[in-house]
Amino acid sequence: MISQHIAQQLNQQFNNESYSAYFYLSMSAHSDFIGLKGFASWFMAKYHEETTHAMKIYKYILDQGAAVRLLAVAQPPSDFASPLAMLEETLRHEQSVTRRINELVDMAVSEKDHATHIFLQWFVTEQIEEEATVSEVINKVKLIGDRGDGLFMIDNQLGQKAAALAKTALSTPTSGGS
Ligand code: FEO
Repeated sequence: MISQHIAQQLNQQFNNESYSAYFYLSMSAHSDFIGLKGFASWFMAKYHEETTHAMKIYKYILDQGAAVRLLAVAQPPSDFASPLAMLEETLRHEQSVTRRINELVDMAVSEKDHATHIFLQWFVTEQIEEEATVSEVINKVKLIGDRGDGLFMIDNQLGQKAAALAKTALSTPTSGGS
């Protein structure tokens, strides 16, 4: 059993994760549109990951005997200045998700809600990995450059990362990682 307040906050987080999914789907569509198939696959993999995150929360709310309330999902951006700008926007977005997860942990702790506290630990760990992965890609793009041969190389590498992610998702359906 969770409090009304925690249930409401988790419903909001379901919405935030759904927005994250939409956000990456938009980046995937844009990448495909401008011919970056590797970027498109990587952002598509992130889209699938975010839907998994949302559904973890959905299941937890129901498992705790609370109601799932679906809220409107905001419109994501659809135009991006450059591939690097997309990646930097991704990092800023994940940092804001991390702050939000930390707030949820604080709420669970202040309510002495041990179950929700434990449930959220998976998300805390996931955020460390998400931020680290995006930072690594950004550093590489800054080093190699996001045009010409450099961009071609990064696009190929992101395509390979996406293929590896898809394989992992097939063997462990609820696993995260980007
Ligand atoms: Fe669901 Fe990328 O955090």
